[in-house]
Amino acid sequence: MPGTAIIGLQWGDEAKGKIVDLLTEQHDIVVRYQGGANAGHTVVTDGKKFKLSLIPSGIFRSHVQCVIAGGVVLNPSSILQEISSLLAQGIKIGSNLMISDRAHVIFPWHSIADRLLNNIGDSEPIGTTLRGIGPCYEDKLGRSLAIRVGDLYKPDLKEKIKHIIGVKNQLLLELTNRCNKTMDMTNPIAELNPETIYKEYAGYAEQLRPYVADTTNYLLNAVDADKRILFEGAQGALLDIDHGTFPYVTSSNSSSTGIFSGSGVPFYFLKKVIGIAKAYTTRVGGGPCPTEQDNNIGQQIRDRGNEYGTVTKRPRRCGWFDAVAVRYSARLCGISTLAIMLLDVLSGFDTLQICTAYEIDGQRLNYFPSQIDDLRKVVPVYETLSGWKEDISAITKYNDLPFNAKCYVKRVAELIGRPVEIVSVGPDRRQTITSTLSE
Ligand code: IMP
Repeated sequence: MPGTAIIGLQWGDEAKGKIVDLLTEQHDIVVRYQGGANAGHTVVTDGKKFKLSLIPSGIFRSHVQCVIAGGVVLNPSSILQEISSLLAQGIKIGSNLMISDRAHVIFPWHSIADRLLNNIGDSEPIGTTLRGIGPCYEDKLGRSLAIRVGDLYKPDLKEKIKHIIGVKNQLLLELTNRCNKTMDMTNPIAELNPETIYKEYAGYAEQLRPYVADTTNYLLNAVDADKRILFEGAQGALLDIDHGTFPYVTSSNSSSTGIFSGSGVPFYFLKKVIGIAKAYTTRVGGGPCPTEQDNNIGQQIRDRGNEYGTVTKRPRRCGWFDAVAVRYSARLCGISTLAIMLLDVLSGFDTLQICTAYEIDGQRLNYFPSQIDDLRKVVPVYETLSGWKEDISAITKYNDLPFNAKCYVKRVAELIGRPVEIVSVGPDRRQTITSTLSE
């Protein structure tokens, strides 16, 4: 049975959680394979809203095995809070959740470094989620100061933490001295007490013990047994560390390229990639966003779409659909079909714009630039489409959509070069059009 992936094609927050939740019915296993608690996936079922950061969105179906694979960076305190909050809401969590012993662990020094690094330098800050994601991945690649989930159970954990804190104290002090003076962070390293941190993390390790496993081996066995596996991407392809809008990206491969390294599953197993894109554009944090509407239009989209971060509550930057950017990420991720999300948010505009090309210094550019300075310079070329006034949030069949809404969906599909399989018109499972998009 083939593997399927759900990948965001923009800068994250494409409402991937809803589609993962819908598709879990047809899968045995749902895997998170990159990122960490920087992700915020919202799932609405029967009017009840659940927010997930680390736990795969398959957790609401009792037959599904949820796996947090080795490519994820794990904040033990965040996941334990998430588990207890879901348990309190009546969701069953036990052997249906597995956490890789290869996943790297986020410690307080990672979050402190994240805050300091966001305030260093004179260029536009990356504007991270401050969850310590980047610094934890840095230690993973650097290896000598890294701690993986499996290490939490080894007898030398206390010594290792003491040694790392010794090194981190020096590094963080230097970073603090170089930080912008305005930052309210006078003595961050005072927070790093080896004994306290060891006790705290040894406690987390005991609570996490029932979930910890060699998930790579588990998934390879699942591949051999023809299990149906759904890969749940976090963030979006344009935030990919290698292929995104560097340096305004996250620290993992958030395009489909991260599936294989993050989960250990071989590439041939993946048969379908569903690219998820909002009907417009949003971005949180720094970095260029060519179609951003820093005006009344952007505010209308923000208000109607409730575009405020699930994790950080920051208002998201909003703008028109950028077909140049999405076409790039759709090709990068090898998507089979598209899911267009939040189409209902565009109801009420007289006209809608779609960016079909970029121009730099009057020269047409039909591709997505690799250099951030070029992306900052691009001027979007827009195509104007007629809007629709009707509330579409209760529509469940494609052919019942207003004519102009269908034209909009069709044009997006044409520009991206892939068929649209799903149109979402609201947060609930029921507000989803999956019927054949015939007209
Ligand atoms: P980090 O992942 O916390 O290091 O943040 C790096 C960049 O990715 C920042 O611009 C964040 O706003 C953005 N980012 C990280 N996670 C998400 C997400 O789940 N949705 C949208 N943006 C994200």
